[in-house]
Amino acid sequence: MVNDTAHRYGGITRLLHWAMALLIALQFLKLGDRINDGEHWIGQTLVPWHISVGGLLLVLIVLRLFWARGQRQQRPQPVGPTALLVKAGHGLLYACMLLMPVSGILLMLGKGYGLKVFGVQLVAKTGVETGWMASLGSLHSPLAWLFVALVLGHIAAALFHHFVQKDDTLKRMGG
Ligand code: HEM
Ligand code: HEM
Repeated sequence: MVNDTAHRYGGITRLLHWAMALLIALQFLKLGDRINDGEHWIGQTLVPWHISVGGLLLVLIVLRLFWARGQRQQRPQPVGPTALLVKAGHGLLYACMLLMPVSGILLMLGKGYGLKVFGVQLVAKTGVETGWMASLGSLHSPLAWLFVALVLGHIAAALFHHFVQKDDTLKRMGG
């Protein structure tokens, strides 16, 4: 089933959710640069893909936003006293998924580093700093920490539904 229904998420929503969750987890490994200045296996093999994977995530989140807009009438809706909290939580996750790559790109361009994605030089290196871009880009790191906290809360909520409330919340996204 490609489309969402009121009781379960369809194939495209699930594919986008799990593929992006995996790629975002990969992006969080950039925090590993804080350990021994990134001089370890993760820092040397996975982190160099940070900018390319971030560029891919920007394309995916734009597609996902359009897809979610098209599916919003027919997908599972939060109910009960926590409905507003669930909506706000999912809204903030969407905001982070969009703002992370945007702020990352602003950081690179603002510092004059240019932008190279999967070997393609999209913007040439200038070496010239652009103040406003660099300032907005400096939000990348604080946003990353907020995003990590939101994702941990989101996973805890999913596991709580599954193991404590024993309802279908995880199954409708998981299979
Ligand atoms: C969803 C996409 C992204 C996520 C989840 C993400 C996540 C992160 C995380 C967790 C850090 C470490 C922050 C810290 O140590 O405080 C980081 C740093 C960084 N990211 Fe991203 N990132 C994303 C996309 C991008 C993109 C598209 C670019 C560039 C085009 C980028 C460029 C950078 C740079 C340059 C740093 C180092 C910043 C610094 O040391 O101040 N990121 N990112
Ligand atoms: C980076 C990681 C993740 C992000 C950004 C994320 C984001 C989201 C978003 C925005 C939704 C709302 C539905 C949609 O529009 O797709 C959602 C739903 C859901 N996610 Fe995640 N997710 C992540 C990881 C996970 C993980 C690891 C689990 C399982 C442990 C999980 C379980 C669920 C479940 C069960 C739903 C359905 C909730 C409902 O219908 O109320 N997610 N996720």
